Amino acid sequence: DYQSRIRNFSIVAHIDHGKSTIADRILELTDTVSKREMHAQILDSMELERERGITIKLNSVELKYHAKDGKDYIFHLIDTPGHVDFSYEVSRSLAACEGAVLVVDAAQGVEAQTLANVYLALDNDLEIVPVINKIDLPAADPDRVKDEIEDTIGLDAQDAVLASAKSGLGIEELLERIVTDIPAPQGDFEAPLKAMIFDSVYDSYRGVVLSVRIDDGIVKPGDMIEVMSNGKKYEVTEVGVLSPKAVSRDRLVAGDVGYLTANIKTVRDTHVGDTLTLANNPTTKPTPGYRPAKPMVYSGMYPVENAKYDDLREALERLQLNDAALEFEPETSQALGFGFRCGFLGLLHMDVIQERLEREFDLELIMTAPSVDYHTTLQNGDEKTVANPADMPDPSDIREIQEPYVKAEIMVPNDYVGPVMELSQRKRGNFVTMDYLDANRVNVIYEIPLSEIVFDFFDELKSNTRGYASLDYELCGYRPSDLVKIDILLAGEVVDALSFIVHRDFAQARGRAITEKLKSVIPRQQFEVPVQASIGNKVIARSTIKAYRKDVTAKLYGGDVTRRMKLLEKQKAGKKRMKAVGKLDVPQEAFMSVLKMG
Ligand code: GTP
Repeated sequence: DYQSRIRNFSIVAHIDHGKSTIADRILELTDTVSKREMHAQILDSMELERERGITIKLNSVELKYHAKDGKDYIFHLIDTPGHVDFSYEVSRSLAACEGAVLVVDAAQGVEAQTLANVYLALDNDLEIVPVINKIDLPAADPDRVKDEIEDTIGLDAQDAVLASAKSGLGIEELLERIVTDIPAPQGDFEAPLKAMIFDSVYDSYRGVVLSVRIDDGIVKPGDMIEVMSNGKKYEVTEVGVLSPKAVSRDRLVAGDVGYLTANIKTVRDTHVGDTLTLANNPTTKPTPGYRPAKPMVYSGMYPVENAKYDDLREALERLQLNDAALEFEPETSQALGFGFRCGFLGLLHMDVIQERLEREFDLELIMTAPSVDYHTTLQNGDEKTVANPADMPDPSDIREIQEPYVKAEIMVPNDYVGPVMELSQRKRGNFVTMDYLDANRVNVIYEIPLSEIVFDFFDELKSNTRGYASLDYELCGYRPSDLVKIDILLAGEVVDALSFIVHRDFAQARGRAITEKLKSVIPRQQFEVPVQASIGNKVIARSTIKAYRKDVTAKLYGGDVTRRMKLLEKQKAGKKRMKAVGKLDVPQEAFMSVLKMG
């Protein structure tokens, strides 16, 4: 029967352990794409993904495999991103699967996101097929990695597939194991339609294209479907599968993973995680869905030209169609005008959104420094959530401020435990516990304010451990903190978009660092500009941007043309992202300087 030959699975791994390369080899070996069409990491179709070599959006593809038992199988492979910012996307794809291929690098071993992804897979009751990849590397030590998988995950790894995605070794064995180890879906064809939406993309011709996993029943063009959470109804116009190009079908049935269009014009009506059913024969129970994405950091986003505000809103709406984790709402800044406060999963996510807005929608943006959301309790007992530092109430009105903390798991070789603890302590972390993974590696657990993680924790962690540490974190709640808002004044005026929140103990040092930094990034103007940092009315640091000389190159003797050109180039590049703030031209960099004070 049809369903017994379907296998729905994801590939999960720590970043760079080789998921995408394994997916490429699988596509090749199953002739899903011809050699001619094959290009590296074909599933990473977004231009940005290919340039950065990372997977951002999950992608699903149907492939056919002729197994050694003589039968033909249909695989639905759902690729997932590995970066901690995108673990939400991982959980969405896992909910559409019966199994997960767990890829572990034979030289690196189990890393923080290996564990995090395994837990997500186990939460979804998935069958896990372990693969030890990159066994071609000289530093590969598959036996050690097997033991590590057993010790840390408790998964029998003695018969893990040994693979080299680079050479193709072990890929066929992996395909066989997918057939034998991962269960077929158990949907009921006769039951009313029950389909889970696990992704959506906006297409200007067809409207919203939904990625769906059919749990029960059948869906075909012409059917009237209903979105269970809001009762909206649509007539199905097309169903099909990605192979990896879209191929339309006359129906999708229980166990299938494919796409569906129904002239849906706004994706807000079809949330990822929602259940579709038939309007005239609805199922009684929606699919369990999965945990919704919650933004961790917020930043203000403003068009460089005020006239582009509507374009920016439209672009954000478009992006939100295929990025359920992106949140935004209008905000106004005295300094920057009309813009949006946007919520992101993390800094990488923020970066990716900014870059997509600029490339795909041709917008020039000013982003303010990212902030977490703070919970304040006012003297009168009211509670207020503050995601924009500029909105922080006056200190005299505040009874208590709480900030989000994360539980951070840091995996690191023994030798670096010292530096990791020193760093975590310095970032206001509270030590929780430390587990030995094996003779050489330790899992160090701290509770650390999210704001410290957002700033530069990861970079510092990497440099303090020569790149050996890996990090995973999740929100663990809000804790009271002695926090203050620092305002920045340029030429005597508070620039609201530069305000930031910091622990009182660090206020002085950060105030000083930022006034120095701003002095170096804001170009000289025709007049002298004082830069001040203040808490309330109290100035805690200051610097001065000197008045500018008409032509930066005037001082140079005429002969050195290349040097002169270089300087002019530099001036031009500096001009690119300027925003007029009062009488000053302030570059994008200035708004991010709070991040880069070191
Ligand atoms: P993200 O998509 O960013 O999460 O990473 P990924 O896990 O998909 O890793 P990817 O497939 O992009 O591989 C990471 C790097 O490892 C690339 O440079 C690959 O060429 C390399 N790589 C993958 N598999 C192998 C292998 O079997 N052997 C060797 N030597 N290198 C490999």
